[in-house]
Amino acid sequence: MAAIDADLALQARLFQAALGITHRAHELPGADGDVFVDEEGTPMARRVGGRIELTGPSRWPEPDAVRSDAPVVLPPPGRLPVKPVPDHAVLLLPAAGVRPDDARYAAWARAWSAAANRVVPVPIAPDDLNELARALIAAYTTSTMVTVDSEPQPAGAGRTLLFTGLSGSGKSTIAKHLVDRLFGERTITLLDGDVVRTHLSRGLGFSREDRDINIRRIGWVAAEVTKHGGLAVCAPIAPYDATRQWVRRTVEAAGGPGSFLLVWVSTPLEVCEARDVKGLYAKARAGELKGFTGIDDPYEPPADADLVIDTSVVALDDAVEQVMDLLAK
Ligand code: ADX
Repeated sequence: MAAIDADLALQARLFQAALGITHRAHELPGADGDVFVDEEGTPMARRVGGRIELTGPSRWPEPDAVRSDAPVVLPPPGRLPVKPVPDHAVLLLPAAGVRPDDARYAAWARAWSAAANRVVPVPIAPDDLNELARALIAAYTTSTMVTVDSEPQPAGAGRTLLFTGLSGSGKSTIAKHLVDRLFGERTITLLDGDVVRTHLSRGLGFSREDRDINIRRIGWVAAEVTKHGGLAVCAPIAPYDATRQWVRRTVEAAGGPGSFLLVWVSTPLEVCEARDVKGLYAKARAGELKGFTGIDDPYEPPADADLVIDTSVVALDDAVEQVMDLLAK
């Protein structure tokens, strides 16, 4: 007997198999007697021969207990109802595989629940609705499906702006002025490189690994802010392309496509070094500071910047306006 880790997607398929919504139990992993454990390590299902049995309490009502002659409504993913659902209909809300703190899903589910009388969560992921619609209808009703007029769900208003560039390039200055410029329009979470390192990333150094952890922490917080409709403005050096891409993916998974914007503050090294506001370039050149970005540590220029600003040729006010224009798109 083995214990098999079941991620959200596999958990959904196990529920479907256990409740008879799909007949594809044989395609699921595991052999007779194997136990499936959720991400916290709690057993949630077991394979018994060709069948799947749930081993703990389930959040899903059994199809047989719901089954009636009422028509069902399957709310289309990513769309919101424009009218109430007919009184007698049963709304089957695909709730599998979605994290409870997924804000866009929560808004979608709320809108449909408000429009309907009877709402039944079903062990289907929203993306699987098309494929499993027939089986779902057959399992939960002897009647048919009714459709309800719907419109596209607006994109979440949440955004992350990541400024990347060398130390002294002007990231923090633009970010701070942007925050002032947006004062009164929306609330902003500012995650400035130096400030983050005194709190969230206290104790981390500047090795590749530590920089990576630092940027991922910033990205993780920014994704949370974005998910809940806020604007996260981040201004670390973020020298590595792969890590920046990870942040883009993480934010877009939380806030939807287009919720992540990368601004490369491309001010040349000579200019940053001539400014040397903190005197760190001089120390790096003198060999007193090792592994300084741009001197003896790499900065990988982004190929995917949504905006590029060189503050040696663009004035601060213009730079802020360019970012405002980007946000308005
Ligand atoms: S990152 O590489 O992890 O993104 P981060 O933006 O948090 O860097 O911190 C950069 C700031 O730390 C710089 O503006 C500078 O003041 C300071 N710093 C100290 N040591 C280094 C170093 N070796 N390389 C770059 N910045 C350093």
